[in-house]
Amino acid sequence: MALIFVTRKIPDAGLALLREAGHEVDVSEKDGVLTKDELLEKLRVRPYDAVLSLLTDTIDGVVFDAVPTAKVFANYAVGYNNIDIKGAVSRGVVVTNTPGVLTDTVAEYTLALILALTKRIVEADQFTRVGKYDGWAPELFLGSGLKGKTLGILGAGRIGSGVAMRAHRGLSMNVVYNDIAQNAHIEEEAGARFCSNVKEVLEVSDVVSVHVPLLDSTRHLINAETIAHMKKTAYLINTSRGPVVDEAALVVALREKHIAGAALDVFEHEPALADGLASLENVIVTPHIASATTETRDEMSVIAAKNILAVLSGETPLNPVHA
Ligand code: DGY
Repeated sequence: MALIFVTRKIPDAGLALLREAGHEVDVSEKDGVLTKDELLEKLRVRPYDAVLSLLTDTIDGVVFDAVPTAKVFANYAVGYNNIDIKGAVSRGVVVTNTPGVLTDTVAEYTLALILALTKRIVEADQFTRVGKYDGWAPELFLGSGLKGKTLGILGAGRIGSGVAMRAHRGLSMNVVYNDIAQNAHIEEEAGARFCSNVKEVLEVSDVVSVHVPLLDSTRHLINAETIAHMKKTAYLINTSRGPVVDEAALVVALREKHIAGAALDVFEHEPALADGLASLENVIVTPHIASATTETRDEMSVIAAKNILAVLSGETPLNPVHA
């Protein structure tokens, strides 16, 4: 029997798997993110063999050292920028994530944001709810068409490709993309054209959707200088990680109408929003829910559990994030 600590309540599917395998599972009873001190205190209570962590937990050397018995940290997310991977590797701790099961859900959500933003659905909903609608008018809430427009994808991994394919096949958009390497899949599935640099994507796109992981090289990829390359009529969508966008610079660009609008599901200093962002009309903000479907959250729970079970049995997990 192994001891497993889960840093916050997640769907039962994965926890049931762990328990059925005979392991003891302690789930933090706090209805919220554990502070660093709370996390350390919890981890020191018992000699845990595995930890199931969330993207809201910062897992660094101090955390690993608080639970030296843990062989694996299974992150309940596809992103793992919250974990010090070098620190894990140097201590022989395995880190895993939950790729694959978020792809369709996040791609669908990104499409929903593109449509909501360009058709001004959120603004129009708020307008109608408060009783401002006093009859049909030819120029009420004019939005932008998408057919034949260009979607620029930054980061052509699973999710970026999924967005491109849906936008191309479902909305008849043309697709351009940039990534560190050319990707045959997105080219075949979405007729996408490779651009060798980000600037070119920004210059030709009517909608720019960001799907890169958060790395030193992608932090503030979208900043005042890069935004200046976007069309004045263009929209920015971010469902990846907040710090990829310099949010203060984006607020200035939106306020001064350097671009037409933005839809953000992630924020630079999450859960806080940059000053002024929430009061802008040409913005949609949602609370990091692009992968929040019942199906996906259940599957994430199962994958995280399977990764833990594999490591505890001495096997290679399904989704190690490092060699
Ligand atoms: C992830 O998994 O990285 C998403 O941002 C949240 O589910």
